[in-house]
Amino acid sequence: MNIGIIGAGNMGSGMGKFWVKNGHNLMFSYSRSSDKLKSVAAAVGETAAVGTPAEAVQFGDVVVLAVSWSAVEDALQAAGSLDGKVVLSCVNALLPDMSGLAVGTSTSAAEEIARLAPGARLVEAMPVFAEVLHSPSPRFEGVQPTVFYCGDDEEAKAIVADLLRELDVEPIDAGPLKNARYVEPSGMLLVQLAYAQGMGAVAMKLLQR
Ligand SMILES: NC(=O)c1ccc[n+]([C@@H]2O[C@H](COP(=O)([O-])OP(=O)(O)OC[C@H]3O[C@@H](n4cnc5c(N)ncnc54)[C@H](OP(=O)(O)O)[C@@H]3O)[C@@H](O)[C@H]2O)c1
Repeated sequence: MNIGIIGAGNMGSGMGKFWVKNGHNLMFSYSRSSDKLKSVAAAVGETAAVGTPAEAVQFGDVVVLAVSWSAVEDALQAAGSLDGKVVLSCVNALLPDMSGLAVGTSTSAAEEIARLAPGARLVEAMPVFAEVLHSPSPRFEGVQPTVFYCGDDEEAKAIVADLLRELDVEPIDAGPLKNARYVEPSGMLLVQLAYAQGMGAVAMKLLQR
């Protein structure tokens, strides 16, 4: 599959390296430095190219949005139409100083992105910390972390769930896109545990019976 990635930062590159290993072709886009974009693609693997956000959208069977909340509008403008595209957003609406969320519980980054790109087949997934993706294994003592994903397009969700499985995590269907307003604060909880509480690399595991 071709995966166009908007955002060549910690998350884009962290997920991208798993997808290259699984045989996908990538196109990275949207960095303020073209040198950084090229070096990220080169580090991720031979099947990773670079382009503009609009080119990444054209290229991708799936488009991944992996930018900071403050850059979302600009990135979407640069991307152009996402009509009909399966879009995986891992965006959380973190304030720049990580002290809180810009939106939450009554809406979410994902719902706002859906409003900005109403034709996109949007799925939100809140993957593990980038440092976990960049570590030798995303597993914790052999256990796969849970990654919640949500969206309103079942076919798009199935495609994203397969891509999440390739990250060696356990994807759990968290329901419709509006549940992103609960999933995103759970990501903020992990940020608090990791940084404010000093717990370091943490992830979630859902227990069910
Ligand atoms: N990091 C995590 O552990 C984690 C976990 C779950 C969810 N998330 C969410 O995933 C998203 C991406 O996180 P990340 O850690 O990958 O971020 P990041 O490392 O800062 O990457 C963001 C990317 O967006 C690009 N960008 C281009 N123009 C920008 C602008 N004007 N302002 C800001 N960025 C711009 C950056 O380009 P440059 O190359 O120029 O910097 C970079 O390639 C965020 O919404 C975050 O909340 C992150």
